[in-house]
Amino acid sequence: MTVRRDLRWAPPIADRPLRGARLREAAAAELIELRRAVLRAGRDRPPAGIAEDDDPATVHLAVLDEEGEIVGALTLAAQPCPDDPDAAAVRLALMAVAATHQRQGVGSALVEAAQGLASGRLDLIWATARDSALGFYERRGFRITSPGFIGAMGLPHHRMVWRP
Ligand SMILES: CC(C)(COP(=O)(O)OP(=O)(O)OC[C@H]1O[C@@H](n2cnc3c(N)ncnc32)[C@H](O)[C@@H]1OP(=O)(O)O)[C@@H](O)C(=O)NCCC(=O)NCCS
Repeated sequence: MTVRRDLRWAPPIADRPLRGARLREAAAAELIELRRAVLRAGRDRPPAGIAEDDDPATVHLAVLDEEGEIVGALTLAAQPCPDDPDAAAVRLALMAVAATHQRQGVGSALVEAAQGLASGRLDLIWATARDSALGFYERRGFRITSPGFIGAMGLPHHRMVWRP
């Protein structure tokens, strides 16, 4: 199976309830503020967006609290995995949960939704994970596939892969 950048690889997902919150698909523009706050220390540089944000094949998932505020998000971009370039793959990018909502299952719900979308459609999901989040991804079944390197924000990262 090949991921074509001009085709959606995942069906639209239904809005679903989540312990007083809800999980739904989102547009990239809705996520910039959360990404900037959580992943860019509130700064504008480096940018809180990626080139694939508006690609029709890209899927953004968000968790909204009871007031409709976006408190968690991730982005799935159709990009080959350096460890397995021929695999049908998406990159999980810009995973962020608001500081007020961390450690309450929001991140897990987002990753599980992504894994549900990928199952039966893709060979793998990969990510460049901050070392501080390696344990989180490992609990969700991702495995480290690269030596450590310095990535976004000058922080140590490892590449990780999950296969259905
Ligand atoms: C890392 C992050 C996405 C996790 O989301 P979250 O909503 O806080 O995580 P959850 O509440 O779903 O935690 C799920 C499990 O992982 C554990 N966990 C959460 N963050 C962890 C971390 N940084 N390291 C190790 N374990 C972690 C939790 O204890 C929990 O364990 P359990 O399944 O036994 O209950 C979130 O904390 C975050 O946005 N952090 C700052 C930005 C960041 O690091 N993003 C990832 C960039 S690659």
